[in-house]
Amino acid sequence: MKTIAITGASRGIGASAAVALAAPGRRLILMARSEDKLRDIQSAVENKGGEAIIVPVDLSSREGAEKATESLLDRTNGQLDVLILNAGTSNHADFINSDLDAIEYELRLNYLSPLVMLRRCLPHMVHQKEGGHVICVGSLASLMPFPGEASYAASKAALLSLLRSLRVELRDQPIKLTMVLPGYTSTEMTENHRSLLPAMSSERVGLAIAKAIADQPRVVIPGLSNRLAARLFQTVPGVSDRILTRFADLLVPTVAQP
Ligand SMILES: NC(=O)c1ccc[n+]([C@@H]2O[C@H](COP(=O)([O-])OP(=O)(O)OC[C@H]3O[C@@H](n4cnc5c(N)ncnc54)[C@H](OP(=O)(O)O)[C@@H]3O)[C@@H](O)[C@H]2O)c1
Repeated sequence: MKTIAITGASRGIGASAAVALAAPGRRLILMARSEDKLRDIQSAVENKGGEAIIVPVDLSSREGAEKATESLLDRTNGQLDVLILNAGTSNHADFINSDLDAIEYELRLNYLSPLVMLRRCLPHMVHQKEGGHVICVGSLASLMPFPGEASYAASKAALLSLLRSLRVELRDQPIKLTMVLPGYTSTEMTENHRSLLPAMSSERVGLAIAKAIADQPRVVIPGLSNRLAARLFQTVPGVSDRILTRFADLLVPTVAQP
């Protein structure tokens, strides 16, 4: 029986990943705050012949993330094959006018909670029979400027940076670390957002996450246009930043001057 834990499994990308992964011989641990929605996903997983356990958690604080990790290790007896750190939020506002509490909340959920969970789970995961696998859901925003989502992009860049360093630090351990960097995806999180790139469905991103469990790549960027954008911003950052600046009004209203 393979045990796979997913945070943020109650809706959107996490829920789609859970359904894509559901199969006989797999036990999914579904984590989020909304118990009723987790129950719906549990039924969807069971309908596909998989097993699902619900663990209600609030990952927006260090204490919440620590408590969630203890519950997870308790429920699995420390036998965790795959950990998918997906729960996240975005503080969609121009930087100067955005609320500092909302920025701090975003940083705790997107960066601090995965960090806390990794610190506690990695020592268990390196002892799995075939080695453990961690998948972090970051964002294409970690590779490029993201007007209207500056603090969100920074929180995801922090997560990406953490994983890159851990990969080197844990080079002798039997653990695989994958970063999934989705672009604009239609979910509750992006209901009122605008993007220059076309929106992808959460099901498609969920399938990319499921495939990453089989292939164990270092980085996955679902969608060709997202991969091209990532290549452009990494290869010629100066030019691509200037192009983005020209179109920034389409993404975020002009910021009022102080
Ligand atoms: N949508 C996009 O365009 C996009 C693009 C790139 C990356 N991503 C990333 O993909 C991940 C999933 O996002 P999504 O688009 O699927 O968003 P979503 O539909 O809003 O889902 C977010 C998930 O995180 C959970 N969550 C939120 N706050 C939580 C908390 N305090 N404690 C525990 N769980 C919490 C939510 O469940 P509860 O509310 O039930 O707790 C939900 O299951 C995020 O990390 C996001 O940054 C999204």
